[in-house]
Amino acid sequence: MGKCPGCGAWNTLVEEKPESEVKARVPKSASSSNGRTSNPPEPITEVALGPETRLKTGMVEFDRVMGGGIMQGSFSLIAGDPGIGKSTLMTELARFMPERTILYVTGEESKRQVKLRAQRLGVDTDRLLLLAETNVEAIGQAVRSCEPDLLIVDSIQTIFRPDLSSAPGSVSQVRESTASLLKMTKEDEFSTFLVGHVTKKGTIAGPRVLEHMVDTVLYFEGDRHHAFRILRSVKNRFGAANEIGVFEMRESGLHEVPNPSEIFLSERGYGVSGSAVICSLEGTRPILVEVQALVSPSSYGTPQRTATGFEYSRLQMLLAVLEKRIGLAFSDHDVFINIAGGVKLNEPAVDLGTAVAAVSSFRDVPTDTNAVLIGEVGLGGEIRTVSQLGPRLKEAAKLGFDRAVVPANNLDSTTAPDDLDVIGAKTLQDALDTVL
Ligand code: TYD
Ligand code: MG
Repeated sequence: MGKCPGCGAWNTLVEEKPESEVKARVPKSASSSNGRTSNPPEPITEVALGPETRLKTGMVEFDRVMGGGIMQGSFSLIAGDPGIGKSTLMTELARFMPERTILYVTGEESKRQVKLRAQRLGVDTDRLLLLAETNVEAIGQAVRSCEPDLLIVDSIQTIFRPDLSSAPGSVSQVRESTASLLKMTKEDEFSTFLVGHVTKKGTIAGPRVLEHMVDTVLYFEGDRHHAFRILRSVKNRFGAANEIGVFEMRESGLHEVPNPSEIFLSERGYGVSGSAVICSLEGTRPILVEVQALVSPSSYGTPQRTATGFEYSRLQMLLAVLEKRIGLAFSDHDVFINIAGGVKLNEPAVDLGTAVAAVSSFRDVPTDTNAVLIGEVGLGGEIRTVSQLGPRLKEAAKLGFDRAVVPANNLDSTTAPDDLDVIGAKTLQDALDTVL
């Protein structure tokens, strides 16, 4: 079939041959034969908890995303577009943990290429072992012989199981190879990172399948034309999801960015219309970012709307609310929204700042440069409450902002830092009156 009967998209179906022998491999769980089980349910209070051992890498941004270090026996997937820096990040782990045995399985590049990269990154340890191999069984042998603390498989799309007939990178190969590696990891209690060329749209084999199998899913994202890279945990069985780490790609590799707000705001224009500072909570971490808007009369019938780093449908909703509730005629204007620094934000609390930036550009009046805007905009033009206002305000005060416009309903439950003037807004109109 050329067309997916589910979603109507063309050429998206992937052929998968049934693998009869795979079925037979599924463990019949020895204990449950003849219906009797030697594995009775146990009260939760009596389940033994071994000591929790996390491997701290010393790379602060990375450790935070992992929930405080790499959990022993954990199985993680790091996914991202090709060329974003996944191999670089994995190689850097060796620089931070020279005393740990790391087995780096490279299926894409030669050992020489990996070595050249490692040299550039300043990795110089004989505990980093390279293996150019794509056969799961050979990887298993190598693991048994060198007993690594950390196994890195770059990338899962190149790995295959010889007993399956389908090609490496196909859904069944990716799934079955992952299952084999998972079994090894859990039995021998080391930690594994799989590198996967899977984008969020899942254009390559089996990303969804993988997400269910692994403990942690990290996305390495960023705009290739920007130096900033964001490592985001979208799933973490051992820590908070959506936690982010910010890195900068330089000649000498990835460098941690401990104060992302400062960097994201460093190129901010002052006294220019169409700019507003918002505070987005990424995981547990508040980050201040500039939203830029450009609104100009459209020269053609259909106005253009472009959103970079911001959800397109959300922008359309905000413009409709501004049109209906504030009475601004955006329908004959082009609107461009850009989140500075190449970050992607999808938290509702950034609505207010985005709407205000759009109005600021529409009227060509600069916003108050010392104000941070936080709030979700509802369809009625009301400002709705956001979660965790306290930490957001603290971050704003830390970076020297004087004022914050926040949802009025949040005020009772939040203590504001002393040097920050916090103003509650009930509606979009209130907020516009305050900062424009
Ligand atoms: P890489 O880690 O190979 O990407 P991936 O494994 O995700 O495909 O890195 C890709 C890019 O990073 C490459 O275009 C070059 C750049 N880079 C640097 O800018 N500095 C460096 O020190 C390194 C190693 C790579
Ligand atoms: Mg790579």
